[in-house]
Amino acid sequence: MILILGLESSCDDSAAALVTGDRQVLAEAVVGQNSAHQPYGGVVPEIAARAHVEVLPGLIRQVLDEAGVAIADLDAVAATAGPGLIGGVMVGLLAGKGVALAGGKPLIAVNHLEGHALSPRLIDGGLGFPYLLLLASGGHCQLLEVRGIGRYRRLATTIDDAAGEAFDKAAKLLGLPYPGGPAIEAMAAEGCSSAVPLPRPLVGSGEPHFSFAGLKSAVQRAVASGAYRPADIAASFQQAVVDCLIDRTRLALERSAAPTLVVAGGVAANGAIRRALQRLAEQEGRRFAVPPGWLCTDNAVMIAWAGAERLALGLTDPLEAPARARWPLDAAAETVRGAGVKA
Ligand SMILES: Nc1ncnc2c1ncn2[C@@H]1O[C@H](COP(=O)(O)OP(=O)(O)OP(=O)(O)O)[C@@H](O)[C@H]1O
Ligand SMILES: [Mg+2]
Repeated sequence: MILILGLESSCDDSAAALVTGDRQVLAEAVVGQNSAHQPYGGVVPEIAARAHVEVLPGLIRQVLDEAGVAIADLDAVAATAGPGLIGGVMVGLLAGKGVALAGGKPLIAVNHLEGHALSPRLIDGGLGFPYLLLLASGGHCQLLEVRGIGRYRRLATTIDDAAGEAFDKAAKLLGLPYPGGPAIEAMAAEGCSSAVPLPRPLVGSGEPHFSFAGLKSAVQRAVASGAYRPADIAASFQQAVVDCLIDRTRLALERSAAPTLVVAGGVAANGAIRRALQRLAEQEGRRFAVPPGWLCTDNAVMIAWAGAERLALGLTDPLEAPARARWPLDAAAETVRGAGVKA
């Protein structure tokens, strides 16, 4: 059975994992850096890269020991090669190259977004192509038709902030710790989702794109007014995000014949969002798939799994493979009017 070592270091999580081609996770380890970045209210790239340097080699040793596996037993080494904070990406990719070189193993330079995109197939062996993917994470908010490994058609993207970024910014305004998603979700449970009138940017518009910057500004005004309970603001904000995601995804479903709706990325860990998308899929007569929460936020299991999928097709990379800060899944997709630099 194929055995892959996966490495992840594109943002603020250092992670290593051993995954087999028949969907077994033999070992995995993640070390987050939340406490290092918390004083700054966001990830500081320099601090993140230095932490990956210190932590990753130990994690590789740890997963190999835990699974009782030697480098010689590996079939390939899969490492995130982008997109992400370039310093961290370089650290993890170079660590992967080191193991591949030392063991004489093939390298697979994995697109982190493909890791998220294929993660549901690790859990659900019956999930075939194509599927419509809502990829909602800290850096991205896109609707993609996943047609196969390396074959993506982007239907929509955000014209400003990503959904996870919106959670993080709203949390900061509410004085909640980073990352904001889990903190807002917990606080929202104590609040009323209709208490604060907030906008639903782009809802009803003709293309299924996303926008969250105006929502963040509205949260800022609501906090500054002093007129609302923080829990009510959190609940109303979360509901506004749910409404935006559902409206936009419904439009994308109308434009795709894919039989399954999938949600992945860190924001897919949110219970309200998962439930609302499941209802939408039922209404639209589609299957629904979502990875468990631990597989939604950054991890190396999804990188190893993407490596296994690529290796099965003979898709390996040379040791010269570059680290990329930007690396869109659908390179042919046009830049959307009003969009910032996000892919
Ligand atoms: N329960 C939750 N509800 C809402 N958002 C959440 C939840 N859990 C995590 N998130 C958000 O998910 C994001 C992290 O997801 P992920 O780790 O996939 O992003 P990233 O790797 O930083 O970005 P990308 O994958 O686009 O490079 C953060 O913005 C975080 O606030
Ligand atoms: Mg991610």
